Amino acid sequence: MNNNSRIYGVGGGKGGTGKSFITASVGMILAQQGKKVLLVDLDLGASNLHTFLALGKPRVSLKHYLNKEAQNLNDVVMETAQPNLYVISSSGCSLEIANLHYAQKLKLIRAIKKLSYDYLFIDLGSGTHYNTLDFCLLSNEGIIVTTPEPVSVENMFRFLKSIYLRKIKAVLRSNNLNIVCREYLNEISDSQVKSFSDIIGFVRQYDADNGTNIEKCIKDQKIGLILNHFRWQVDKNFGHDLTKICNKHLYFDYHFLGNVSSDHKIGDATMRDRVFVNEYGYAKTATEIHTIVRALVNETYEADLSLPLVS
Ligand SMILES: Nc1ncnc2c1ncn2[C@@H]1O[C@H](COP(=O)(O)OP(=O)(O)O)[C@@H](O)[C@H]1O
Ligand SMILES: [Mg+2]
Repeated sequence: MNNNSRIYGVGGGKGGTGKSFITASVGMILAQQGKKVLLVDLDLGASNLHTFLALGKPRVSLKHYLNKEAQNLNDVVMETAQPNLYVISSSGCSLEIANLHYAQKLKLIRAIKKLSYDYLFIDLGSGTHYNTLDFCLLSNEGIIVTTPEPVSVENMFRFLKSIYLRKIKAVLRSNNLNIVCREYLNEISDSQVKSFSDIIGFVRQYDADNGTNIEKCIKDQKIGLILNHFRWQVDKNFGHDLTKICNKHLYFDYHFLGNVSSDHKIGDATMRDRVFVNEYGYAKTATEIHTIVRALVNETYEADLSLPLVS
């Protein structure tokens, strides 16, 4: 297992919030700064990461790995015109992420963890299917992209609750809990959970030895929030306020990475088959993405890729 890559799942629950655009832009900037970067498109069935990178129709894709035409995940990694920037596209994948079998998911997760890059970003699709959650939790760093619209924010909270619960279950399973806690754990379902700290509280009460360790594992999950499609009508502190709410109620370690303004030039660039941050490098929006990249690079981080999957 390679523990040197910084791996980020980029999710958010709702489609169209800008996950693929942000993934492509952040990846491009990091590669230009000399970092070796891999972007993995896991929006199977609705793949469009390659479009934001002006890659044309990908020659190989995850499809070839999943249907065993390619033996090794490295065989479907594509070079791009930008030195240091590599992509695994899922273009042409007919199957949805929800249809990925458990064994296929496990194989893919193991293969991704073995890859050796400075930064690895996984562009996720919408929804809260277990497979999406597991790819988002593949390492202990993730990025959530939301817009200020209420529907998007609601979806973000739904997504965060889902990954939170998924992570708690994985952490509890890996801690050899006593029988009382194991039974309690088996009864937990998404709809039942009222307060997440109740779960930790329960384990602390009935299995004190494990309680503290579990709490630490959960707090080790870092989530960076990005507020995309930012407009002047939105309070400039909105992203910070959302982050505070998350830190108060959803127990991971959240930090705000920044606002990205709404900008029609993004659409213009893709229409003309150009990469936005290259074509409009001095636009305000590009500057904001550079700020986000600085925030990411400056975070101190210890990779933990060891957690088992919940079946
Ligand atoms: N800040 C922004 N301003 C204007 N358009 C944007 C912005 N971010 C993304 N878009 C556009 O919104 C659409 C959805 O973006 P995309 O990255 O595909 O979303 P997701 O991956 O979350 O589904 C695309 O057409 C993209 O060009
Ligand atoms: Mg996308």
